[in-house]
Amino acid sequence: MKKPAITGVKIDELIASRWSPRAFDPDFLIDDEIIKALFEAARWAPSCYGDQPWKYILFNKQDATAFSAALNCLSVGNQDWAMDASILILVCANKNFNHNGEPNRFHQYDTGAASENICLQASSMNLSAHQMGGFDIQKAKELAEIPDEFEILSFIAVGSVLDQSKMNQSQKEREVAVRNRKPLEEVYNINTWKK
Ligand SMILES: Cc1cc2nc3c(=O)[nH]c(=O)nc-3n(C[C@H](O)[C@H](O)[C@H](O)COP(=O)(O)O)c2cc1C
Repeated sequence: MKKPAITGVKIDELIASRWSPRAFDPDFLIDDEIIKALFEAARWAPSCYGDQPWKYILFNKQDATAFSAALNCLSVGNQDWAMDASILILVCANKNFNHNGEPNRFHQYDTGAASENICLQASSMNLSAHQMGGFDIQKAKELAEIPDEFEILSFIAVGSVLDQSKMNQSQKEREVAVRNRKPLEEVYNINTWKK
């Protein structure tokens, strides 16, 4: 199933094709080379001072115990669909610069950019990524033994979208819902905040 952005002006096809599905194929497993490509894409994101503050923890369905422990960190609503993804990625960011230990006020900004690279790389390989803020941070911190200097930002579920013919009614309704965005005029102003 595809759900391309309906745009007023033409944008790059890859950006238009990315979306956040909730119906994944539960039997689909991702091979290691593809997983490496996701993190390679993150690796090449820009960052302040080239600091690369991101750190990702991978939970692969092929390791059922680890995957279900990660799944258990998610809100019930997210578990409901993320259980069918092939991998879960915990997204963390170093709060301090590597070169001098001073606070890095761009750690979230840079890690968000790297994570969008993961989402776009997934789309480019005919996979889908769905980011999540709905999870128990403390549980994830303890599970993956994340050090205090790292902030835990999100989870990303990656997998293959379930064929529409195999979706149940509630999956179908969720997946065909219209994608909404603010109008373009609200996205940017020229020269000043005031219109
Ligand atoms: C930081 C962040 C947190 C999100 N948290 C959740 C979440 O907990 N559960 C969920 O189903 N979707 C979550 N989403 C997905 C958004 O709802 C989705 O990206 C948005 O509705 C736009 O849809 P699209 O990605 O298909 O364009 C999150 C997205 C981001 C970037």
